Amino acid sequence: MPETIWRAKAAKTKYPSLTEDTEVDIAIVGGGITGVTTAYLLSKSGQKVALLESYQVGCGTTAASTGNLYTMVDTRLHHVQAKFDNETTAVVAKSRSAAVDLIESLVKKYEIPCDFKRQPWILYTESGEKDETIKKEKKTLENYGLDVQELNSLALPFKTELAIKVENQAQFNPSSFVTGLAEKTESENCRIYENTPVHHIEKGEPHVLHTPNAKIKASKVILATHTPKGVYALQTAIYPYREYALAVKLKSGEYPEGIFWSTDSKTHPSLRSYETEEGKFLITVGYHHKVGQEDPDKDYFGDLEKNLRRNYDVESVVYKWSAQHYKSSDGLPFIGESTDDNIFVATGFSTDGLTYGVVSAMIFRDLLTGKSNNWAEVYRAKRFTPLKSAKTFIKENLNVMGEYLKDIPGKEDAERFSEIKSGEGKIVEIKDEKLAVHRNKEGKLHVCSAVCTHMDCIVNWNNNEKTWDCPCHGSRFKPTGEVIEGPAFSPLDKRQINSEK
Ligand code: FES
Repeated sequence: MPETIWRAKAAKTKYPSLTEDTEVDIAIVGGGITGVTTAYLLSKSGQKVALLESYQVGCGTTAASTGNLYTMVDTRLHHVQAKFDNETTAVVAKSRSAAVDLIESLVKKYEIPCDFKRQPWILYTESGEKDETIKKEKKTLENYGLDVQELNSLALPFKTELAIKVENQAQFNPSSFVTGLAEKTESENCRIYENTPVHHIEKGEPHVLHTPNAKIKASKVILATHTPKGVYALQTAIYPYREYALAVKLKSGEYPEGIFWSTDSKTHPSLRSYETEEGKFLITVGYHHKVGQEDPDKDYFGDLEKNLRRNYDVESVVYKWSAQHYKSSDGLPFIGESTDDNIFVATGFSTDGLTYGVVSAMIFRDLLTGKSNNWAEVYRAKRFTPLKSAKTFIKENLNVMGEYLKDIPGKEDAERFSEIKSGEGKIVEIKDEKLAVHRNKEGKLHVCSAVCTHMDCIVNWNNNEKTWDCPCHGSRFKPTGEVIEGPAFSPLDKRQINSEK
């Protein structure tokens, strides 16, 4: 796992791994903000819960996020309104505001040291071209009770045309929040297990979750894994992307206060500052691409740094990391029961996942304790909105189909193992089998099948992060084949190679 600024500043956790078979009401897979907040709310409601985390609590996507909390959404609220209706938009705005409020109340109640701070959110345009977007967003946000100010200039070291500011949004250290809340959650009603990956779910009544050393029975399972583990039709409606982040120190000490988004996020990454006892950092996040489909010649971190240096006197880059997000076909997340009875999912958060993770936890608390929830229908995981999803659905699934079609003979990256340098990975084809071959820094070769264990796409080498990434649904694997994230349960199949090809 990369050392993100959040993880570096958070307390380290040390929960045991699961070693004995056990039985609970609810098993939660995934110890990020969604899983831990859900475990907290359900265990406080009297449910017997087990939380299973593959690595350490709060170390996955939560630790790689922006640390921003806000009512708005990255696709813009006015697009939600245009695609759906007033009622849906109101649910999105209300649920997201309520989630930020819940985080704040938990931070206060338990005095969780996570640097929670209310901050303004600012959306700006650099050219006059996107003024219309800003104006539409302002109107929509005002319609849903947000206090929006129009600004003609910003305290940024480059020219902006028009901006809107919404006060009372927030920032925090998400890893510190999650580890702090986990500490208050671990109890008779909730056991937390780290280093406990779930390899298989045997569906039934109860479901049986298989982990390396023990099994766990649960009448209900929540897959708080960012994307559901296993094969679900839903995976055709969520699309995996990665983006990059830097935390830097400035020479000048002039750090912008607030969360800054550009209307042109493709070329203008977001900005925010973060203050710790070691002083301030400027954080920038951007340059997304589909997982496993990055430009191999592009240095995404280098480009982010160059972009920042154009406007800021960067003294040093202290942290760099990247994160995954899943966009949904209709722009709303999928939260609720999946097509498998009593298996619940929360996915498709796009880049708004910290807030949506907590929205999911609030919905799960109600759904799994027999209470009604006014937001659940809008986010229902079983919904299918062909008209609202059609364009994105077709485009993204043609892209996945294109990746399957790449699995044709002769598409290898290297012909011989000797072409692979230390620290590199390449696809090599031997006797019609595609192999994912990595040479480590000591010169040792690791060879696995290049076939993704989720649904058989061919993985690609990600040279920026030194991982094998699947271009179809976003599974990612270590250079040696172990699962890092995504829907795959199992590692890439190892292959024994006796001599160099
Ligand atoms: Fe689905 Fe690889 S993630 S095939």
